[in-house]
Amino acid sequence: MSAVSKDAKRMTTHILKRMKDAGEKISMLTAYDFSMAKIIDDAGVDVILVGDSASNVMAGHETTLPITLDQMIYHACSVIRAVKKSLVVVDLPFGSYQGNSEKALNSAIRIMKESGAHAVKLEGGEEVLESVKRIISAGVPVMGHLGLIPQSIYKFGTYTVRAKEDLEATQLKKDAKLLEEAGVFGIVMEKIPAKLATEVTKSIGIPTIGIGAGGGTDGQVLVSHDLFGISKDFNPRFLRRYLNLYDDMKGAVEHYIKDVKSSDFPNEKEQY
Ligand code: KIV
Repeated sequence: MSAVSKDAKRMTTHILKRMKDAGEKISMLTAYDFSMAKIIDDAGVDVILVGDSASNVMAGHETTLPITLDQMIYHACSVIRAVKKSLVVVDLPFGSYQGNSEKALNSAIRIMKESGAHAVKLEGGEEVLESVKRIISAGVPVMGHLGLIPQSIYKFGTYTVRAKEDLEATQLKKDAKLLEEAGVFGIVMEKIPAKLATEVTKSIGIPTIGIGAGGGTDGQVLVSHDLFGISKDFNPRFLRRYLNLYDDMKGAVEHYIKDVKSSDFPNEKEQY
């Protein structure tokens, strides 16, 4: 298997394209803070996404809508301080780009200037094309996001699989082409049928990254807290948990409480 990524000192959008062309799969994970970003970057992940899922995972909101541009920049700054090799992509939050390409450009520039991130991601197709083009024209790499787009949850009404019907699938294929023509360097496709994701992947020259979109995409992304099993109650079919940290961490805290209560901690070696 080819390993274009192994030779890279730093991941770039151009290397991601070469990885697609060489058939090397792209790994992507979320991070919102320094400690997590350090582990993920040291492990060698290709792309770190400072996702607006921070709204759920870090702040406990029900949706991604409440997180602000300032809060996204705060998370991005923490991640950037930890990262040596991965490409860092930051989500433009809800309300920072929709329906106003000048506002979109200003939001993207704030993220790039204030955090030192390498690219931005935004949700939608045809309806955000003007914003996409304007941001790219300023030299900022943009990643698209199609399928289940959580910032539109109140329009969809549910988090179920998108584009199962022909009409929505046809629009998604059109959106992917339009985004590619506009110059995005990659597209996240969330929770759509595997067959459709594979078809889109074959029809465009830029990398596709799937989440709940099957194995036919050029890469995969997961929310790191889901992969580590820190989030306990989120169990979609597409998720593979690699650890059960919720139980391990809770067990460690219970053990600590017991040791404090019984005066076992600190012992003689653990004091000055
Ligand atoms: O915000 C996020 O974590 C995302 C991923 C689910 C792709 O957009």
